Amino acid sequence: MTNTESGLKLGMNSDFTVFDQMVLDPELTATVPRDQYFYTGMDAYIHCIEALAGSYRNAVGDAYSRETVNLCRQVFLADDMMNDESRERLMVASYLGGCAIATSYVGVVHPFSAGLSVVLGLHHCVANCIALNALGEFYPTEHREFCQMMNAQGVKLPTGVCAGLTDEQFTALVAATVVHAKPLTNALGADFRTVLTDERVVDIFRSM
Ligand SMILES: [Fe+2]
Repeated sequence: MTNTESGLKLGMNSDFTVFDQMVLDPELTATVPRDQYFYTGMDAYIHCIEALAGSYRNAVGDAYSRETVNLCRQVFLADDMMNDESRERLMVASYLGGCAIATSYVGVVHPFSAGLSVVLGLHHCVANCIALNALGEFYPTEHREFCQMMNAQGVKLPTGVCAGLTDEQFTALVAATVVHAKPLTNALGADFRTVLTDERVVDIFRSM
């Protein structure tokens, strides 16, 4: 969800979004296009690597996050991320990843992803992957693993998504990123703006 007036990308966490019933069925993902399947599955992975690298940790969230990352490794480093076993594992990873993030915060990737969604209209999961790909300096080990996973599955990322943007659009990208103070504080501390200056944020977007 995006609030276009405030330029804020929103989540769906509230007491009113707790469901009475939930359907978990790996048959439902059997015909999803491969790239979309990868990007969407990586959302669970990215949530959890961000939570595990943050400072707002707790034992329950950590346990959910670790198992989610384990399952994502089994799926995305395997020969076929979409066979029956892999789709079942990714289904569980998605569920546990949701449980993990309900008890913790994301980090640097999601705020940059939010900028891409708010300003350029990119969908959440592909925007996450583009953001992680450009944020290797913050998540070196996870970035390496992400690249291994993409290679193993033959998945390609869109490139040049910020090519030819105006100064106004870069200003909007910075604003839509640094507004996410909670996750950025979780990842970098309360003075995250000394690390993520306007110039550095723009440079990162330009590299996408
Ligand atoms: Fe997400």
